[in-house]
Parts: sequence; structure tokens; C-alpha cells
Amino acid sequence: MSELQIAINPRETAFERLDFAELFGNTNPVVVEIGSGKGRFLIATALERPEVNLVGIEKSLHYHRVIRERIAKRHLTNVRLINHDAFLVLQRMIPDASVSEVHIYFPDPWPRKREQKRRIIRTEVLAEIRRVLVDGGSAIYVTDHAEYFESAAPLVEAMFPSERRVPTADDPPRTNYEAKYREEGRPIYEIRFWKR
Ligand SMILES: C[S@@+](CC[C@H](N)C(=O)[O-])C[C@H]1O[C@@H](n2cnc3c(N)ncnc32)[C@H](O)[C@@H]1O
Repeated sequence: MSELQIAINPRETAFERLDFAELFGNTNPVVVEIGSGKGRFLIATALERPEVNLVGIEKSLHYHRVIRERIAKRHLTNVRLINHDAFLVLQRMIPDASVSEVHIYFPDPWPRKREQKRRIIRTEVLAEIRRVLVDGGSAIYVTDHAEYFESAAPLVEAMFPSERRVPTADDPPRTNYEAKYREEGRPIYEIRFWKR
């Protein structure tokens, strides 16, 4: 697949709702990652789980291009990328009950009070996650930022059955940020949640 086929450009498609069966040419479960960075999770999952389709939503054009190149180089056919703000992509492009898993690793913490409205874990985004998940679908949010976690986890818990967890040293790091922060010995906070 060429780099152009891997990327879906909402500026060209005018934020049309996606048809995943048409996009991937199969009806495999769809896994969405929000804020894919350099794409470590997407690439590892695409290789380890060829039976799922992956969608990486990444706002930064630089990182979007990095991931696109890495996917093309590996000839992965089960990944698509969208270079835009994840809230708008969820809201306008992802159909109801079409996603099996949503993964969010180390989202920007926006620590200043006046910037916290930009955090990806906020009620309106969680409502979109609930809408797009299939029944029984799951989501995960992982961060090293204690204050972000302590304010975001209760929002999740108010809307979903959920489970807090602390990753152990035996759990392999899923993303570049996780690898870096674990090496530095920072505590990592994790919450998994489900649509039931
Ligand atoms: C701190 S990095 C973490 C990257 C990767 N998940 C990891 O753990 O290594 C946060 C990433 O989320 C992206 N991002 C931030 N806000 C976003 C948004 N609203 N929609 C999509 N991506 C976003 C940033 O561009 C950046 O690549």
C-alpha cells in the first residue's frame, strides 16, 4: 500500500462518516488509538494481531508522516491514519458502535489550569468513545501524570464500568513514552473501561 492509501484526509473527505468494511475490505474488529506519536503501539499491534484493523488518530503532521512512512515500509495493510484532532474525528467520522477498542497512551497533560479544557480525557470525548464502542468494547487510558489521572479517572468511572491498574515491571512497554518513563522509574497510572 502506498503512503497515500494509508492516510485518510478529513480535509478532502469533508469529515464523512467512515465505512470500515469498505475501507479495510473486511469486517474485522476495529481498534482506534488516539495520539499515536511515532506509532510504536500501532505497528506492534498490526504485526501481532493481523486479525484486527487499526486506526491511528494523530494531530501532529510531523508524527503522522513518521508513522505513515513506517507503515508503508513494513507493508502493513491493516492500519489507516487520520491527521486531525481526535475529538472531531470521533464525532464526525466514526460510526456508532463500530469500534472494539480505544487506546489512549500518555496524552498531553495540559497541566496549566486554563489549558485543561484541551485534555483528551474530558466528558464530551468520553461520550463519543461510548457512542463509537460496540457493546462489550473496551478502552484504556494510561498516563504518568498523577494530577491528570486523579481528575480524569473519576470522569471515566462516572460513565463506564472500569478498573484502575498499576502496570508492573513485567508488563512490556506499549509506547515510546511508556518505555522512556518506565526507564526513568516514574509511576504509571492506568484505567481500563468497558461499554456494557
Ligand atoms: C505525549 S505524546 C504520546 C505519544 C504516544 N501515545 C506515546 O505514548 O508514546 C501525545 C501525542 O498525542 C498527540 N495529540 C495531542 N492531542 C491530540 C488530539 N487532540 N488528537 C490527536 N492527537 C493528539 C500529540 O501530537 C502527541 O503525538
